[in-house]
Amino acid sequence: MRTIAVVNQKGGCGKTTVSINLASCLAQEGKKTLLVDIDPQGHCAVGLAVPEEQTEQSIYDALISVGRKELFNFSEILWEISDNFELAPASIDLAAFDQQTNGITDRENCLGTLLKTSAGKYDYVVIDCPPAVGLLTFNALRAATDVIVPVETGYFSLHGLSKQLETLNILCKQCSQDINVMVLASMYDIRTKMGREILAELKKHFSDKMFKTVVNFNTKLKEAASLGQPIGEYDPASKGHKDFLALAQELIATDTQVESEAISVARKKLAITPIGPASEQIADRHDQIKDLNKSIESMSSSAQELLAGINATSDSIEIVPEAQPEQPLVLQELALDEKLNDFYGVRQFGPGTRFITLYPRANSVQIAGDFNNWQPEKTVMTNADGTGKWILDLDLAPGKYRYRMVVDGQWQQDPYNENSEMNPYGEYNSILEVK
Ligand SMILES: Nc1ncnc2c1ncn2[C@@H]1O[C@H](COP(=O)(O)OP(=O)(O)OP(=O)(O)O)[C@@H](O)[C@H]1O
Ligand SMILES: [Mg+2]
Repeated sequence: MRTIAVVNQKGGCGKTTVSINLASCLAQEGKKTLLVDIDPQGHCAVGLAVPEEQTEQSIYDALISVGRKELFNFSEILWEISDNFELAPASIDLAAFDQQTNGITDRENCLGTLLKTSAGKYDYVVIDCPPAVGLLTFNALRAATDVIVPVETGYFSLHGLSKQLETLNILCKQCSQDINVMVLASMYDIRTKMGREILAELKKHFSDKMFKTVVNFNTKLKEAASLGQPIGEYDPASKGHKDFLALAQELIATDTQVESEAISVARKKLAITPIGPASEQIADRHDQIKDLNKSIESMSSSAQELLAGINATSDSIEIVPEAQPEQPLVLQELALDEKLNDFYGVRQFGPGTRFITLYPRANSVQIAGDFNNWQPEKTVMTNADGTGKWILDLDLAPGKYRYRMVVDGQWQQDPYNENSEMNPYGEYNSILEVK
């Protein structure tokens, strides 16, 4: 059984889209596949039309039972999506998993222990992780044989990448098992020069640590999710489906495991099969297992080189100076002749502080920080020209501030400010200093 964690602390980079459609295409290729959602947002269930009101128990209940060493019917929470394809849905209770397991030893192994009980049942387990590095993601890493890091082919996703890989490295130093980590280029838009340049650089730097398959930007993927269907059901002829089939096949080609029998057929809740204490079965390891720490370290330095290369060579990509991690961004005065179009991020602007960010598909963008008691509704950004460039001016006294962007209700790090620090929830706050 291969257990694939789809990890990136950056929100909205395509983790759930990859998880759902990779799992579905693996199943289509005859592999028994379990999709496990450990993101409290529960997007896998939404994207597969599993009704929230009928999911009485979720992966949260299973994990808590394992932590408390209570018997639990894992099958009870599983939903059959199609042939070979089951889902263990998440629920909002997962947000409290950290507090609820406080004091439980081995709480980072709850998912691994749970999955071992199913080791003979599936060929693949795909885990959709939350956009944060915390106990839940750590559980996924402890259970994983493989990690997929989806990376949008945009400049600023690369900026986050080296930090992301460093963080993964820190976490994985605490994991004893070997994991194969691969970067997956996602949301690739071949029509943009930047997209093409970034993809070429990614391939150059990550070479054998990157999937040959690239997931293109394809609106059919978005439509499929909004209708609760995997892409293969919604539009089998689409480019999105071809990409995910190719990804599944690329993955399977590295798999030595014998294909096992298909299971059930209709989309219905599965029969309850009680499970006992953790099975002694040990998950099979595929033949390409590599040492995680070494691979992440080399990927992380590759990401930094990659950025340096792009900074030095490309004039079509905005240059943002690298800053030391954990340091606040000391605001620069915005020169009078500097066009606003020339930067995204945060700058001193006359007596005020100007935030500019780009979210072309967002309906609302707000900022929450220690300057407004973390109340996003008090500092709403404006998409004045309708192009998706969101702007907000604040009058901040000199000092150091922490903040996060709230994009369509989802809290995330400022993608244009590399200066950040981990908050108590395992997520990153952006930091800036007004002089
Ligand atoms: N290849 C793609 N082509 C077009 N749209 C995509 C693609 N991948 C993802 N999207 C869209 O981008 C948005 C974010 O994707 P998704 O929810 O998969 O990201 P995520 O990393 O899981 O987000 P979060 O961090 O909040 O969990 C969704 O609206 C999704 O439909
Ligand atoms: Mg998601």
